[in-house]
Formats: sequence, structure tokens, C-alpha cells
Amino acid sequence: MTDEQLIARIDEVKQSHPDNLMARHFDADYYLGLDAPLQARLRKIIASGVQNENSSMGAYAMAPDDYAQFAPLLDAMIRDFHGIEAGTPIAQPHDWDTSAVTSDLGAIDAKLKQVSMRVRVARNVASFPLPGAMSKEQRVVFEDVAAAAFAKLAENPDFGGQYLSITPGSPYEIDAAEYQRRVAAHQMFKDMSGDKYLNVAGISGDWPYGRGMYVSEAEDFLVWVGEEDHLRIMSMQTGGDLNALFARLHDGLQILGDLLPAFAMSDKYGAIASCPTNLGAGMRCSLHMKLPHLTKSGTDLTRVTTEAKSRGLAVRGAGGEHSDAGSDGLVDVSPSARLGVSEMQIMRRLYDGAAALWALETV
Ligand code: ARG
Repeated sequence: MTDEQLIARIDEVKQSHPDNLMARHFDADYYLGLDAPLQARLRKIIASGVQNENSSMGAYAMAPDDYAQFAPLLDAMIRDFHGIEAGTPIAQPHDWDTSAVTSDLGAIDAKLKQVSMRVRVARNVASFPLPGAMSKEQRVVFEDVAAAAFAKLAENPDFGGQYLSITPGSPYEIDAAEYQRRVAAHQMFKDMSGDKYLNVAGISGDWPYGRGMYVSEAEDFLVWVGEEDHLRIMSMQTGGDLNALFARLHDGLQILGDLLPAFAMSDKYGAIASCPTNLGAGMRCSLHMKLPHLTKSGTDLTRVTTEAKSRGLAVRGAGGEHSDAGSDGLVDVSPSARLGVSEMQIMRRLYDGAAALWALETV
């Protein structure tokens, strides 16, 4: 594609898909003002959004310093997605002290004492390229580095467990049936090679090399290796105590942070992630709630989506990104903002949002 073709294509996407944030904020003059090596880097970053016109974001970073290097474009997209107004600096506070937040979902309604709760953070190691730009060898070397850290983590009684790899020939390799079982149990990530966004970005490259998952014995602490970010560290449990859920993640993250090479972190962008949507706290926390009334038995998410959105939450089916709701109205509810809000604030939004949706469900 020549520069003219690229610019014309993005213009076309901007007209047909105004929600594609890359197309919305792409500025041809900025692109043309870059030198050739920078233009080549930027083309890779925006390739997924150029090719997949229905992208909502439309870009993935390839290296931690891409955010600073291409700030004139990426900051505009980041502000738009994360709701940070022009004039307000982009900055990420961190605060894990959730002790002041009411955290017992059972206090909203005894029926919420046993919901499926999950919180994860994205982390990338500063010394490797981001997944879209990793070679097959780097993916496997990174997995080895992670596996060595997991061997140490496994000695901790609270986090003891095992590493499971899907890299062919890995000493930790599991078979296809075990992999499928873990995917069905919502523990392991799906085959990424079918994801058109990740494919164009190179993030799903060399599948399944360098991919795996650490799982604690209690199956309440998991770490994905080699998905959209180097690491996705998560805490999950059925219950209603958000503080316990967050505390486990925080403790596990701290231990892993000490065992691994330094994470890519920035005062401005927080935890560096492949996708600009995940910058900041890098955190996604969610509840699986049954909302049959608000979702018309899972057939229509329009109302619940609107109600959730006005409270800073996003709703999707319980089967993951782009999935539908169950016929019992089971949906996944999670705070949308990640950048500019602390971990504690995200938890508070989830709690308050869940209480508000529950009130609408049970009127
Ligand atoms: N690249 C896709 C898009 O722009 C996904 C964006 C958010 N999801 C994610 N898993 N990072 O629509």
C-alpha cells in the first residue's frame, strides 16, 4: 500500500465506521511528517484497525515506548476511549487499599453472595517486545522465564499450583483434551489464531508457541502467558467478598513482580499493554450476574447496556468478548475505564454499579 492508498483507506473507514477510534483520530499530515522508519512502525501499530474496519479501537502497540513515540495519534485515541478530556493530563494513580470500600456483595442482596467474581491485570515485561512484535524464539524464551518464576511461586502455600503449556514439546505440555477442558472451564484462553484483530496485529503469531497458563491448586489464581499481553494475572472465585478477591490478586502480583524482569510501567500510561483499552490499571474486574428481567431473558441487551453505561460499566455475554447472554440472563458486568482510575476506584465502581443494576432488576 502506498501512502496515498493508506490515507484513502483510512478516510473510507472513518466515513463508514465512525466508531473506529484509529480512523477517527488518524491525521494524514502527522503521518506524512514522520520519517520512513517511524512511518513503518506506525503502519504496524494501526494495521489491525486499517484492515478491520469494525474495530472499536483499531491499534495495538508493538513496543512499550510506542505510546510515548506516537503520542500525537495514540493519546487522542486514548483520551477518547478512556474519557480523559483535552487539557487534563493523562496520568495513572495506583491505590490498592480497598479497605474503605464496602466489598460484600451479600450486603446488596443475599442472592448475590454466590456470584462468579473475577479480576485481572495485564502486565508486560519491559525487556521483551510486546506480543505483536515477538519472534517465535522470543515467545518461547519468555515462556521459559515465566515458567521459572512460576516454579518459585509454586512453593508459596497460598499460591501453590502448576504451570500448563501448550507449546509443542514443552516440559509442561498438556494434551489437546486437557487444553479444551481448561478453555471450557473459563480458565485458559481460546485459540487466538481465529481472531482477525489479533492476526493482523501479529499478536496471535506462531500459535501455540510460548502460550500457557499457571493455575493455583484452588484454581483461584491464574496467570495467562502469551495471550494479548505477556501476562494476564487474575484472581477468581465464587462468592461475594470483593476485598478477598482483590487482595489475592495484589499479593500474587507483588510476588510475581519480584520474581520476573521489571514490568513496563509508566507514570503517564500506567501498566503498558498491547491494546490502548487496557492501559492504566490494566485491570478488568467483572461479576457474572443473572439479570433476566433487564435482559428479557438474555434476548435483548439494549436496556442493560444503556443502564450500565451511564454508571461506567460495560455488559457482555458471560462467554467472553463478543459473546451473547445466556437464556437465564447471565451477563458479565465490568467497569469500562482503566486509565486514570485507581484499582480501588475500579472496585468501587463495580460494587456501586452492581448494586444499581440489581435494584433495577428487582423493582
Ligand atoms: N482490536 C479490537 C478493536 O479495536 C479489540 C479492542 C479491545 N479488545 C481487546 N481485547 N483488546 O475492536
